[in-house]
Amino acid sequence: MGGTPSNGGATGSAGSATPGGAGGGGAGTAAGGISGTAGSAGGSSNLVTNGTFDTAAKDPWWGYANNTTDNPADETLAVSNGQLCATMAMGGKNVWDVLIGLSGLALLPNQYYHISFSVSADANRTIKFKTGLGVAPYTDYFVESVPITATAQKVDYTYLNLRNDPMAQFQFQIGKTPGMVCVDNIVIEPVPTPVMPSYKTAAPSGHPLKDYSGVVKMGTAVDTPIFLSNPLHNAIVAGEFSMITPANSMKMNLIQPAQGTFDFTDTDALVSWAQTNGLEFRGHPLIWHTQAPDWLVNGTFDRDQMIAAMYAHIDALMGRYAGKFLYWDVVNEAIDNASGAWTFRKTIWHDRIGDDFMDLAFTHAHAADPKAKLAYNDYNIEQKGNPKADKVFELVKDLKTRGIPIDAIGFQGHYYVEPDGTTASGVPDMQAIRDNMARFAEIGVEVQITECDFRIGKPLDDTKTKLQSKFFADLLQVCIDAPNCSRFTVWGLSDLDSWVPSTFPEYDYAHLFDTQLMPKPDYFAVSQVFAQYDPNGTPTTGSAGSSGSSAGSSSSAGSSASSSAGSSASSSAGASASSSSSSSSGGCSLAPRRNGTRPWLLAALAMLGVLVSRRRSKTACQ
Ligand code: XIL
Repeated sequence: MGGTPSNGGATGSAGSATPGGAGGGGAGTAAGGISGTAGSAGGSSNLVTNGTFDTAAKDPWWGYANNTTDNPADETLAVSNGQLCATMAMGGKNVWDVLIGLSGLALLPNQYYHISFSVSADANRTIKFKTGLGVAPYTDYFVESVPITATAQKVDYTYLNLRNDPMAQFQFQIGKTPGMVCVDNIVIEPVPTPVMPSYKTAAPSGHPLKDYSGVVKMGTAVDTPIFLSNPLHNAIVAGEFSMITPANSMKMNLIQPAQGTFDFTDTDALVSWAQTNGLEFRGHPLIWHTQAPDWLVNGTFDRDQMIAAMYAHIDALMGRYAGKFLYWDVVNEAIDNASGAWTFRKTIWHDRIGDDFMDLAFTHAHAADPKAKLAYNDYNIEQKGNPKADKVFELVKDLKTRGIPIDAIGFQGHYYVEPDGTTASGVPDMQAIRDNMARFAEIGVEVQITECDFRIGKPLDDTKTKLQSKFFADLLQVCIDAPNCSRFTVWGLSDLDSWVPSTFPEYDYAHLFDTQLMPKPDYFAVSQVFAQYDPNGTPTTGSAGSSGSSAGSSSSAGSSASSSAGSSASSSAGASASSSSSSSSGGCSLAPRRNGTRPWLLAALAMLGVLVSRRRSKTACQ
């Protein structure tokens, strides 16, 4: 057919590169993409018409090239040797600037599909394929990168379609590099729910991370439908982690796409999966200026109307999941630097409501679900002494002092090493994080690491890999040692489904699992930190704590002076903290534990049973 796609989908698809699209997702064959699926390729259930190209006809397949002056693209589409081949003299700027597409697929709600095809190119290149696209808010699609070569390879995936989508498209996104791409034997067929493969941890201790939930609960961020589509991915999340956070599905543009119209499809699917598999679910986020819907950003709202919109959003989300979520990020990223001063960020929420928007958000959230624990979440606030961190501490302290219901602070924990290997800006001072956690304990506020990743500036090398492992191990140890830190979430399971490359193009490799969903050195470093403890939380040896972790011992180069100062500061903070905190945190003691820098002290405390009781107190925070 050629020409512009009938469904207007070409631009729509690229433009609709909704947040979830950044990540990859379903693993290919190497990562065990499908398992337990039924149906045979090319069978009568195949939704694809003319996917084998046995005649010269290419209909109903179409081609599209987004040809612009700045980024010219073209495409010639023809059946050749029984395959559909696209030739590009110019590839445009992005992979989605040149497409091979099929329109009008009827995808059913809550239905798994088996997708397979064979693909080759005249030279090595990476393409993407994508399905879904038909129904707003366009989160319900599957997109995956596939490296291809001159040798035709068969690709197999499963995809869970959540919404009724009678006019979905299927696309191969093949732009960017000029050349030729050929596809053949294309199958999209409904299949029964794939069986999640049984999971065995690679941890030398034999214990997956989740076995240490009494020490610290490990979580990961997940995205629909990518997450739900891939059985191996799901098996790892269920096998290793104690909690999940939705990476995008609860962002306001997706969950309230029109004023008063809520779309809980993706979040409900994730919640249901978490419940079935026994994982805690973190609500994220309620009030945030980013990924806000157009109706809110572009509309005219005075203070009262904006407060009403805020309350309606909080009520709808917290009402739906009341009693199901323990923690909610009520306000996200509200502090910014304006002309050198740290103050409220200029956002739709702050500017239209005023400085009390956080007071109102937290107070209303508490009324909506009085049992939920309420958090403020932000980045670059992990280290005491960092001006933004100090500002946020003052803000939270002020909220507490005035009786505004806030229980927890989320340290996002997005860190990095520069492409040239320099570490001055992206690698944290662990002692400063310990000190920050301790001061929050003093005011009765829990701390959680909510979005941790350590992205590596390309190219990857051994030094950077080691630094990453050390970083994860150190930060986990800091959280373990702080009595008010009970949860540590990594922002995405793997380098396959990472948000990093599309957000920070110079960086990648930020996660604990690789693109094949295999554990990386940083996973083993994290696992090794936990292996210092019995799953019930008791240290197995007197070496538990930062002194016992090779990573921990050198956590903050050159900070030995502050390290001793820090440990005494946190222990002296202890006594008063526990009393002031018990009422605000549901009786869970926030008394700082020893920070692990003195093995002899640790052994003595363990003998006295102090450590065990404090470990239990952290468990009681859950
Ligand atoms: C990110 C998602 O992971 C991406 O897929 C999306 O494109 C942008 O948002 N701080 C937050 C998270 O609080 O919600 C953000 O998540 C990362 C930064």
